[in-house]
Amino acid sequence: MNQNKIAEKLYQNSVNVRQDNLERLLVAYKGDYYFNLVDRLAGNKDAVIVDGMGGTGFFTVLLAKRGYKNLLVFDLSENNIKAARALFKRHKIKARALVSDIEKIRLKDNFTDLVVVMTSLHHLPSRTKALRECKRILKPGGYLLAIEPNKLNPLALWRHWRSKPSVNEKLFSSGEIRSEIAPIFPEYRVFTHKFGYKIIIIGRKPVRRKIR
Ligand SMILES: C[S@@+](CC[C@H](N)C(=O)[O-])C[C@H]1O[C@@H](n2cnc3c(N)ncnc32)[C@H](O)[C@@H]1O
Repeated sequence: MNQNKIAEKLYQNSVNVRQDNLERLLVAYKGDYYFNLVDRLAGNKDAVIVDGMGGTGFFTVLLAKRGYKNLLVFDLSENNIKAARALFKRHKIKARALVSDIEKIRLKDNFTDLVVVMTSLHHLPSRTKALRECKRILKPGGYLLAIEPNKLNPLALWRHWRSKPSVNEKLFSSGEIRSEIAPIFPEYRVFTHKFGYKIIIIGRKPVRRKIR
């Protein structure tokens, strides 16, 4: 099975659940902590936001409903991206959807103000290339926001084990991701949330100062 097929298989079940429950999620997420973080990092509703490894685009839909106007989702799976386009149509949302590998993102340098990666980095065998690519597509001063389950939290660990993870899928701790992000994003913050259930990862692309 190639990587694309594995990605699709992995995500099939959660796609169905999440799409069926989208309306409920829209209400549940209103005023949610994560959206407040997005608001703070994006700065304003005209900011360009990329939803990386975004599956069928449900988070992009939520961002659009929150008033964001410049949205793009990408995912490795063609089927997920097809589903995302259908979802955007159903919700009358103008957002781009792109088939792309996070390790080689098909977007130009300095493209976006914010990259969000929701519960996906632990699907990658190594995060170095992905983090470098996220930095490349960020504008100077732009942010990466990633939210991941915490390997050191018993509930997160149990849920992960119950989901029958593939070989590539490995939870990590905040200490482990800190050592991966630090060499790439000199300005970063990593902290846990929800009694240690989630790890919040924020990286900022440095602003280059002109030499006078
Ligand atoms: C757990 S799902 C999360 C999807 C979405 N972020 C969400 O929270 O609903 C992981 C997603 O990563 C995608 N994926 C896996 N490997 C990828 C890669 N190398 N580049 C881009 N997307 C990838 C899968 O197709 C899948 O849609």
